[in-house]
Amino acid sequence: MFAGKEGDVLCFFVNGRKVTEKHADPETMLLSFLREKLRLTGTKYGCGGGGCGACTVMVSRYQPATKTIVHYSVNACLLPLCQLHGAAVTTVEGVGSTKSRVHPVQERIAKAHGSQCGFCTPGMVMSMYTLLRNKPQPSMEDVTQALAGNLCRCTGYRPIVDGCRTFCQEADCCQANGSCCLNGEGDADEPEHERPRLFEKEEFLPLDPTQELIFPPELILMAETANPQKLTFHGERMTWVSPASLEELIQLKAEHPQAPLVMGNTNIGPDIKFKGVRHPLIISPSRVTQLFEVSQTAQGVWVGAGCSLSEVHSLLQQLLPQFPEERTELIRALKQQLENLGNQQIRNVATLGGNIASAYPNSDLNPVLAAGSCRVSLVSSSGRREVPINQDFFVGFGKTILKPDEIVTSVFIPFSRKGEFVRALRQAPRKESSFPTVTTGMRVFFSEGSRVVQDISLYYGGVAPSTVSASKTCAAIVGRSWDDETLNRAYDVLLGELFLPPSAPGGKVEFRLSLTLSLLFKFNLEVLQKLRDMNVITDELPERMLPLPREIQPSLQEFQLVSKDQSTQDPVGRPIMHRSAISQATGEAVYCDDIPKTEGELFMVLVTSSRAHAKITELDVSAALQLPGVVDVITAKDIPGKKVRTMCGYEEELLAEAEVSCIGQMVCAVVADSRTHAKQGAAAVKIKYEDLPDPIFTVEEAIEKSSFYEPRRVIETGSVTEAFKSVDQIFEGEIRMGGQEHFYMETQSMLVVPVGEETEFNVYISSQWPTLTQDAVAETLDIPSNRVTCHVKRIGGAFGGKVTKTAILACITSVAAWKTNKAVRCVLERGDDMLITGARHPVLGKYKVGFMKDGRIMAADIQFFTNAGNTVDESVLVVEKILLHIDNAYNIPNLRGRAAACRTNLPSNTAFRGFGVPQTLMVVENMVNDVAMALGRPADEIREINMYSGPSTTHYKMEFSPENMLRCWEECKTKCDYSSRRRAVEEFNQQNRWKKRGVAIIPIKYGIAFAESFLNQAAALVHIYKDGSVLVSHGGTEMGQGVHTKMQQVASRELHVPPSKVYISETSTSTVPNTCPSAASFGTDANGMAVKNACQTLYQRLEPIRQKNPKGSWESWVRAAFFEKISLSATGFHRGPDLYMDWDKMEGQPYAYFTFGACCCEVELDCLTGDCRTVRTDIVVDIGRSINPSVDIGQIEGAFMQGLGLYTLEELKFSPSGLLYTRGPSQYKIPAVCDVPLQFNVYLLPDSHNPHAIYSSKGIGEPVLSLGSAVFFAIKEAVAAARSDSGLVGPFPLDSPATPERACLACASPFTQKIPPSKPGSFKPWALNI
Ligand SMILES: Cc1cc2nc3c(=O)[nH]c(=O)nc-3n(C[C@H](O)[C@H](O)[C@H](O)COP(=O)(O)OP(=O)(O)OC[C@H]3O[C@@H](n4cnc5c(N)ncnc54)[C@H](O)[C@@H]3O)c2cc1C
Ligand code: FES
Ligand code: FES
Repeated sequence: MFAGKEGDVLCFFVNGRKVTEKHADPETMLLSFLREKLRLTGTKYGCGGGGCGACTVMVSRYQPATKTIVHYSVNACLLPLCQLHGAAVTTVEGVGSTKSRVHPVQERIAKAHGSQCGFCTPGMVMSMYTLLRNKPQPSMEDVTQALAGNLCRCTGYRPIVDGCRTFCQEADCCQANGSCCLNGEGDADEPEHERPRLFEKEEFLPLDPTQELIFPPELILMAETANPQKLTFHGERMTWVSPASLEELIQLKAEHPQAPLVMGNTNIGPDIKFKGVRHPLIISPSRVTQLFEVSQTAQGVWVGAGCSLSEVHSLLQQLLPQFPEERTELIRALKQQLENLGNQQIRNVATLGGNIASAYPNSDLNPVLAAGSCRVSLVSSSGRREVPINQDFFVGFGKTILKPDEIVTSVFIPFSRKGEFVRALRQAPRKESSFPTVTTGMRVFFSEGSRVVQDISLYYGGVAPSTVSASKTCAAIVGRSWDDETLNRAYDVLLGELFLPPSAPGGKVEFRLSLTLSLLFKFNLEVLQKLRDMNVITDELPERMLPLPREIQPSLQEFQLVSKDQSTQDPVGRPIMHRSAISQATGEAVYCDDIPKTEGELFMVLVTSSRAHAKITELDVSAALQLPGVVDVITAKDIPGKKVRTMCGYEEELLAEAEVSCIGQMVCAVVADSRTHAKQGAAAVKIKYEDLPDPIFTVEEAIEKSSFYEPRRVIETGSVTEAFKSVDQIFEGEIRMGGQEHFYMETQSMLVVPVGEETEFNVYISSQWPTLTQDAVAETLDIPSNRVTCHVKRIGGAFGGKVTKTAILACITSVAAWKTNKAVRCVLERGDDMLITGARHPVLGKYKVGFMKDGRIMAADIQFFTNAGNTVDESVLVVEKILLHIDNAYNIPNLRGRAAACRTNLPSNTAFRGFGVPQTLMVVENMVNDVAMALGRPADEIREINMYSGPSTTHYKMEFSPENMLRCWEECKTKCDYSSRRRAVEEFNQQNRWKKRGVAIIPIKYGIAFAESFLNQAAALVHIYKDGSVLVSHGGTEMGQGVHTKMQQVASRELHVPPSKVYISETSTSTVPNTCPSAASFGTDANGMAVKNACQTLYQRLEPIRQKNPKGSWESWVRAAFFEKISLSATGFHRGPDLYMDWDKMEGQPYAYFTFGACCCEVELDCLTGDCRTVRTDIVVDIGRSINPSVDIGQIEGAFMQGLGLYTLEELKFSPSGLLYTRGPSQYKIPAVCDVPLQFNVYLLPDSHNPHAIYSSKGIGEPVLSLGSAVFFAIKEAVAAARSDSGLVGPFPLDSPATPERACLACASPFTQKIPPSKPGSFKPWALNI
């Protein structure tokens, strides 16, 4: 019908400028249009599926009916370009810029230190900006709601929230150092002006709404035009039709019943993108006004199916005050559910009709709509009909009774009746921005003044392929009195009715079943309360279940003043903002994929193995090569040089040739003229396999088959076997700890550009170790290293994940560039990145511990098995670090550790912040916890009894003083008021049966620097130009940790110039060669000394000039030096400590020094659902004298939150055939704003000095991550309290992460106990326990 027809012209505005597209492609999303066509690269790609918020922009539309302009935030990655006709888009570039005016939102997020790597910052800015356009003085709740859909992997959110808080009306904390005016804490004697603050909000630009971009008048005219026309846009593979009236829509649907209606595109979009669904025709009814109509009747309200969920929410909000409470039960339940559904950006576009028609098994709305007896009005060419949303409406996965040509025009939401109660309850893996695990809609109707149930409906989502009605359960309740007897019978019926096989898709079978019961019980608690409020019953009620607390409080950051004698120009020790925070907030900061395309540039997409262990019998690329735009397919045969990378003595193929050993292993790469064509080409590559027997996935399988990477390591001090003979008690336990995806916001990105002569290449890459990439590319292309220059401008987060695999990816990309002689870009999609690049090592820890009645641990024998995956990568080094930290803070006289890296057929795991220490700490602290439980004593007492004290020696015979560790511990206990909080927790637990609190305090001793001594070196190159400006180059890469900012501070101090004179452009192998990785928390220590060294050389060279002209300016000295032929360029070098570890002798000096810390966390746990909130966190860290407290506190908070994710939230799931299920933010949950501790205090230990590092500072990048385990142990304590109510005492197993599922099941409530556990071995679980 539409073939060959000339398309319409798409017209919209971006940042005040008109865009007309004659050939708008329906497959193009706004994000790629902005980035690739308009070159507005401030808007970032983070996931492509609406789950991360990096691509947030604001859309404004004129509403002719109300003559108003509406502004809403959207995810540009899911917004089809064709949807934008008549809209105005504002991107981060349109909000403000360093060239014109930085917007207050950009300024405040940057100056409050809310931008580290900066990759999430434009999205954060846009979410907050949109909020302020709608509400210039928001509440804190508005702020947290607005930011709920924006992920940040670096900051821990606290500084972002604090920056945004400055726009709020509420009284807020003055941010004074170490004191909170609201809490009445702090030193009243200290004059306010002398306390350093992390930022000075008095300096902020005021928010002036009159300065914002105006809505284009042309669009108002367009919108007011009568007789709008149908619009059609044709793309390469898809046609888009936007009817202008309902009649046209009905006709189109009649002619093309299979064509989907695209409204918010939040279901269709991900289906096309991730599942490869093809739709030749799309119908977009977003201009059909009838779908947006709202009308009220005496019985309820009809809401247009095209209304966005945000519009539905505000409509319901407006209705509430107009009616008595009894009439708005359903409205309130729906409103509450809408607040929890997805996130703001999703709700702003996703529609009511879309949610209903999508018929997700875990839709949040459908169970409430069904329970609330809602109806839909349907229209088609056959006429209109009204259909109730009930058990017959949902007929299977993603299916309803709608006929293919039927359209939902509106939804009827009835008012409730007196005696009717409606609730919507849900549980989700993360509290916000997450599909639910189980969700419900429940309604009960009582005869007036009675507790006898007249009518009831219970609907569940998440327990079947579609929304289901628990009709048998309802039948068991109706006509009976609402009491324990009825409910107890109902639970049994419910369990029989909602059956889930043990291998049900989605897993979590026991948890989901127990939730069906416990959510009904929660409903019961609310119903009883209501009946009592209405004086229908007078029973003594069980506790009232209030929601978990959620209000983020002002927090404290305490750090030391610089000495009064320090020059005001000297920035060292001051909280200087990250040097490119403003550019990051304005979207001007350039990341790898923001580099403009060069002429003829190609894009590369990898083809990966779909088998875990198999021979490749055929690789057929012919179909791919036929496709439009495909230029070449790179295989192992094309590699001119070394085809493997060698690590820890093992070889890893760059591209698999004969055999594959995991799903996700790279086999070949398709190079094409565009991203889209390369993806299409990759999909067309055909690989045939012959499976090899017995793939190994779990550590148990690896142990059974002795599948290890050698060497396995052992360390022992004292005589463990002997010691076990004389202890009072022995306990044996084990804990399993899951891996962790790095989830850097910027996926792996690189661009390899052939210079055009003498096989020279420029490699622009997002890598923590440019030298490794340089070496690897040179070896791969068989050229000398001097022909390869690696450039790293900045990295959008790395966390250890951008070292080894990045180098391999760069090798493959360089082969493509070499072979085609074209620039080749490779930027991984989030799903591919997660699939290919590996994660933190999962660990199985087993221990035997011997202790005395008084709590002294005399002997421990600990074994670690890490799941290393299909290649060794750095796994042997991880294993070593694991064993070096088995003492953590404790002096266990007889201590043995054994560790092995298991070789499995899963994607190879790699370095991750902490490099094994977070795993060790979990196992060791769990062991200590078990000792405490076995003795029935508080865990902190056992920790204290066993801590190092006085001059000490580690189990590898390294001497150290634990004094500052003990100071951190004591200070932490004091600052958090530990004793009284512990008492309060106990009291809380006595008063609450279904909610429990837990508090835990954890110490850390973390070794800094590389045990591989040669890595402890760094170099720098400093140029002073004739105008006095200084260019510093050093070996560290800027990945958000602020190393460039600190180097700028170092250079500023050493050259006695203001920091503004010092610039750092990039890290490049041509300016500083043979660099070491930015890792091991050692970047500042090493590079700082090298920069200092270079600057001191230069400063000394200027000395004679200064002496001649002491009153001269810096610029005059520099000019004079030039004329006197003094070199204004110098290199600096730092030869770090000679560290070693002798594994044969089991002794060494593997660290330069230790960073110490302690962390106390308190949590509140909902035992019925496993939901949990960290109510308070206090962290004390000894980092010597901080070079930059804001950067260091940023590292502490960010690492803590990453640890919180590791230990309580983040779960990698693999299918029984070894396929990673969790390949995006929809399935893999990292902490979001909703996970920030409600009070989050950080204190830098005062009066600490460190002779081993620059300016007496200490490395801080990694240590605090392990302290996130305090949340785990607080949860464990809360669980223990719940278990004790069920009569269970003593040690119990709880694996990490302590997800809601694990916490809830461990609570052993009467509901979880009703679920019969599935017999292991009797079924194939949905996911592996690796
Ligand atoms: C990141 C993310 C998080 C999410 N979180 C949640 C969550 O927590 N809870 C939850 O319940 N949902 C969640 N969702 C799902 C979201 O609510 C639905 O995708 C959305 O409501 C669908 O509406 P839409 O307008 O975007 O539909 P579209 O994608 O535009 O269309 C979806 C389908 O509905 C059909 N359709 C649309 N409108 C009509 C109509 N009027 N008549 C007939 N058929 C129609 C289309 O033909 C199409 O098949 C999430 C989605 C994303 C992307
Ligand atoms: S890139 Fe759009 S939400 Fe992640
Ligand atoms: S600063 Fe937020 S992701 Fe890096």
